[in-house]
Amino acid sequence: MCSAWWKESVVYQIYPRSFMDSNGDGVGDINGITQKLDYLKTLGIDVIWLSPVYQSPNDDNGYDISDYQAIMPEFGTMEDFDRMLSEAHKRGIKIVMDLVVNHTSDEHSWFVESRSSVDNPYRDYYIWKPGKKGEDGRETAPNNWGSFFSGPAWEYDEKTQMYFLHLFSKKQPDLNWENDKVRNEVFSMMDWWLKKGIDGFRMDVISLISKNQDFPDAPVKENSIYGDAGRYTANGPRVHEFLKEMNQKVLSKYDIMTVGEASGVTVEEAKKYASLDNSELNMVFQFEHMDLDGGETFKWNDKKIDLVELKKTLSKWQYELEGKAWNSLYWNNHDQPRIVSRLGDDTVYRERSAKMLGTCIHMMQGTPYIYQGEELGMTNAPFGGIEDFRDIESINAFRELTQNGMEAETILKYIRYKSRDNARTPFQWEDGPFAGFTTGTPWIMVNPNYKEINAKKALENPESVFYYYQKLIKLRKEKPVIVYGRYELLMEDHKALYAYTREYEGEKLLTVCNFTKESVEFELPEEFIKGTVLLSNVNRQKTEPSFALEPYEALVVIL
Ligand code: NOJ
Repeated sequence: MCSAWWKESVVYQIYPRSFMDSNGDGVGDINGITQKLDYLKTLGIDVIWLSPVYQSPNDDNGYDISDYQAIMPEFGTMEDFDRMLSEAHKRGIKIVMDLVVNHTSDEHSWFVESRSSVDNPYRDYYIWKPGKKGEDGRETAPNNWGSFFSGPAWEYDEKTQMYFLHLFSKKQPDLNWENDKVRNEVFSMMDWWLKKGIDGFRMDVISLISKNQDFPDAPVKENSIYGDAGRYTANGPRVHEFLKEMNQKVLSKYDIMTVGEASGVTVEEAKKYASLDNSELNMVFQFEHMDLDGGETFKWNDKKIDLVELKKTLSKWQYELEGKAWNSLYWNNHDQPRIVSRLGDDTVYRERSAKMLGTCIHMMQGTPYIYQGEELGMTNAPFGGIEDFRDIESINAFRELTQNGMEAETILKYIRYKSRDNARTPFQWEDGPFAGFTTGTPWIMVNPNYKEINAKKALENPESVFYYYQKLIKLRKEKPVIVYGRYELLMEDHKALYAYTREYEGEKLLTVCNFTKESVEFELPEEFIKGTVLLSNVNRQKTEPSFALEPYEALVVIL
């Protein structure tokens, strides 16, 4: 298999608002990140994916951009950014920027122009449609699509008496990628950042940029009021054409890394987005394993992910992309609740289960992504009422579901478990006030478990989750089989254990992870009896032909 630095790298995601506040305003910032680069160097990561730091009115915490070439003042200045980039590079750390170009903020100058009149030169930068007559003769939105953040996906604009499309909040109007002026603006903006020396892009909801131009009504799922917009916007008719154009005009000119966030992506589509022929992107984020605990009210429930289903899904991605495309590997990001609280045990076995989950994902084929705090085993936060939440998705869902008759306590239980705010509580640096994140008042509550779970304590304890992650990263550098090996699932129907092998140029690796609180008997596959222990989260030194795996044990054996 062709080698590439982005296949051999480990990426660390920083959500700047919650990472480190250097000036006491309660909001994390760029200088805070620069201060902590040595911490990341100690961890050993290669690349930072920086969530948006651009100018934004913060309707969706920076994913609503009003100027792509300016820094949000709360986060600092362009000089601060340049200094962070050069300090990261000095330490051999690359920086990949978030590229949010499915939509802008409604405060972006393009949209301000666009909404001002039907013949403004920027009108066609966005998706405007007249309303249609409903059965009762009253005017309704152009179609029945719902926004991913609740409510309709169309907003009526008084000024020109038409509707604009917003798949996310109404302050995030969708760009019209059919317009080649839009595409060229985006490409030259990307070029500007690349010339500055950044090392790539994580592309926000890039699978949504090409809409079905008939804008048909979409089927309404059970328990929903609106049509499923994803049906006619995800992996749309021209998405691969647009990305190939982006690749030719911009990406192919630089030695960079690209990852597309691709909601609704199937393995078949991923083979096109992330083909090893380098014609579009390096890899995509798929969601199938994260959606396994979806239910009647979509993500809002407290169902547990079934291990057999999880193995089936992750293995499908491993098998199908082998030799054709490249996987990204993740459990956490700024949109997901904390994985120890979701798939591990955030009480008695917190550290052990955090290490087990890290092992399970890092030993697969693909580029691993660590989300800030994952390396400490940070957990979901004990949020109280809806007033504790800051996230627009959670707040809107609470409003819509309670209006639809769901008990407030029920929906709150689900939001507490699944809200994106679980990932967004401040990074826990130490056991002092506000976990050392800020000297001011943090913009969102600090998880009270910071006295126990924090970076300072982790750095002092050789057995911490931090040092285990450091080892996971180091092993990847030492063993090509971890990067390039072919994956094979064992015991696919086992309800407690996730076991698989990897094989590459004469090296073979076995990973086995116990996903339960119980001890589980395990028979070592015969060929591994002669193997040696490469990694263990319970200090197991050697294996027997058959033995009991301890609760949440993870073991890697190498031949
Ligand atoms: C996906 C991002 O990860 C999420 O945080 C954001 O709210 C939406 N895209 C809209 O930009």
